Amino acid sequence: MIDSPDFSQVPVTQINDARLLRRDVQLRLFRLDLVDPVLGGNKWFKLYQNLMQARQAGATTLLSFGGAWSNHLCALAEAGQRYGFRTIGIIRGELPDSLNPALQFVISRGMHLVPVSRTDYRQRHDPVFIKQLLDQHGPAWVIPEGGANLAGVEGCQRLASLLLEQVADLAGSEICLACGTATTLAGLVAGLQSSSLSPAPKVTGHVVLKGGEPLTAEVAGWLQQLGVDPHDANWWLDTQDAHFGGYAKQPQSLLDFIADFSAQHDVPLEPVYSGRLLAAIFTRLERGEYPPGTRLQALHTGGLLAANVPRSTD
Ligand SMILES: Cc1ncc(COP(=O)(O)O)c(C=O)c1O
Repeated sequence: MIDSPDFSQVPVTQINDARLLRRDVQLRLFRLDLVDPVLGGNKWFKLYQNLMQARQAGATTLLSFGGAWSNHLCALAEAGQRYGFRTIGIIRGELPDSLNPALQFVISRGMHLVPVSRTDYRQRHDPVFIKQLLDQHGPAWVIPEGGANLAGVEGCQRLASLLLEQVADLAGSEICLACGTATTLAGLVAGLQSSSLSPAPKVTGHVVLKGGEPLTAEVAGWLQQLGVDPHDANWWLDTQDAHFGGYAKQPQSLLDFIADFSAQHDVPLEPVYSGRLLAAIFTRLERGEYPPGTRLQALHTGGLLAANVPRSTD
């Protein structure tokens, strides 16, 4: 049995901030992060269909890939323990002598870690390399890095149903989320297309990686595989305002924004996804890019555990 965390009443935080008031813009955070410390955020949605497929295929072991701070591997290790799968994590680069909180967590959940060199890790999508891993470590159901596959996109369609069920004024609003692989965004957009909401909400993905332009074509490809015409749907990717110079970069301006926002609004943010999302929203706000009356629904997709950010609401 693979039972879902309880997403039936996702908490919402209304952000009261003078900068928003001045521009007559509303901002609400859809707090998926509060539903479950590890499988909350976007994690459950990306994993769900993958877990179902593994179970239906009779697999008993899940194997996936990630860096030493991977939220995805934390979620996979937790899911493995909760739902009775062995888990193997192929880690990019050597294990540090002193294990960070993400690695300590996955080990505590029984994940078997296999560090591989950065050169080998680049072959993570190569079937020959994957076969070698399976020959060495035994049969396993392979899930790509970040849970970024069609099953991940399909699982994320459920996010659209949650928003449709739980957000009264979704029509005509703008839904904002942080994107790494944009799997979550693709599922959300596909899910919204099957509703008749009018005017359709606009979905904005703020890409946290530098050079995220190719993601637009990837999202379009996924949408087509799900029978959605990418040009019919109301979505776009902001590839400029959330990357802060690169995925691994944490400039002081970003850290200052996060400290200030978290203190003012009592919302925990981490510097890779949620922090960059909110920073990008306020950058666009200050540039006057939201017309007066805009209603923003921002998804807090979690990631606090791997980043070791204390959850002040706990
Ligand atoms: C906390 C968090 N938010 C957002 C994302 C981005 O999701 P996606 O890769 O589906 O764009 C990730 C990556 O999986 C994540 O860990």
